[in-house]
Amino acid sequence: MLRSLSFFSKNTKELGIFSQYCIQKCSLYLSSALRHGEYEWQDPKSEDEVVNIVYVDKDGNKTKVRGKIGDNALYLAHRYGIEMEGACEASLACTTCHVYVNQDYVDKLPQSEEKEDDLLDMAPFLKENSRLGCQITLTKDLEGMELKLPKATRNFYVDGHKPTPH
Ligand code: FES
Repeated sequence: MLRSLSFFSKNTKELGIFSQYCIQKCSLYLSSALRHGEYEWQDPKSEDEVVNIVYVDKDGNKTKVRGKIGDNALYLAHRYGIEMEGACEASLACTTCHVYVNQDYVDKLPQSEEKEDDLLDMAPFLKENSRLGCQITLTKDLEGMELKLPKATRNFYVDGHKPTPH
């Protein structure tokens, strides 16, 4: 009896430690998940950091957006209700953030990395000026850039998974 009690109390202690560990891990996970796109929800603090860009949907409708230096084009799109999906939430594992960058701005963007190129090769309606929106970070040089959404994207990340913007 004594032996089983000590076994029980030992396990309870371990269970407590395990629970604490889970709580810490969960809150770590949640706080990092909540950080996605949080920056893009902040307005520019001064005119110096404003970067105006235009999103063009697949029907040609334009939405002018007042972004800022450092904004991620995917999360900024989410803030303004633009239908750029971003199924993998910028982890370079899908192509649902596929956009066409207007020609004048293609060379102003940093060169795409191999992983982005590999993914774009799988994107439907690929063009010379295709990029992944989640890999575009606004800089002053991108003032006036237009990002056009393709006619369709393919979600091969998780079937039917549609993340909601944070
Ligand atoms: S959101 Fe998946 S690669 Fe951009």
